[in-house]
Amino acid sequence: MSKTVVITGSSRGIGFGLAGQFLSCGCRVLVNGRSASTTAEAVERLHPYGEKVRGVAADVSGREGVVLLHREALVHFGAVDIWVNNAGVGHEIRSAWELDEAVIERVLHTNIGGVVHGTIISFLEMRKRGEARSSTWKDLEATDSCSTG
Ligand SMILES: NC(=O)c1ccc[n+]([C@@H]2O[C@H](COP(=O)([O-])OP(=O)(O)OC[C@H]3O[C@@H](n4cnc5c(N)ncnc54)[C@H](OP(=O)(O)O)[C@@H]3O)[C@@H](O)[C@H]2O)c1
Repeated sequence: MSKTVVITGSSRGIGFGLAGQFLSCGCRVLVNGRSASTTAEAVERLHPYGEKVRGVAADVSGREGVVLLHREALVHFGAVDIWVNNAGVGHEIRSAWELDEAVIERVLHTNIGGVVHGTIISFLEMRKRGEARSSTWKDLEATDSCSTG
């Protein structure tokens, strides 16, 4: 049975590449970016996969955005089998004390908060179905490229 995959921050970059890879393996994929336009563009680029790809704009730097993304995934696909915490932002390479507070907040909320909320929210729903398992990139490296079981 084809798996359903949510990839945060998949409107471009590594997340977009992962979306294409999961789709080519027969999965259904929900792509995500902060804005409706970047998300719609990503879905458009993946149009050969038809109904197997959906897009939801949501900012995962806050818990509400993660809840929205997860809820929309359930609406579109009925369940989430794989949740990839990919969204991340960088900052100028400077000493920490030279960074604006707003930049520090954005990086922490996205790169740490987004991962924590994404993991908890998707894990709880998967656990209800008795299918929760947490993996790291190291685990994935040890599997075949299309082995999502
Ligand atoms: N590239 C590298 O060499 C490298 C190395 C180590 C780790 N990483 C990590 O790998 C991940 C992907 O990197 P990348 O180079 O592919 O990044 P990227 O090209 O800058 O893409 C980042 C993606 O995250 C989305 N995004 C950013 N903030 C978001 C938020 N708050 N909510 C939802 N989506 C958000 C962006 O979408 P929108 O702009 O449309 O919102 C975009 O789709 C990041 O976590 C990064 O830290 C990358």
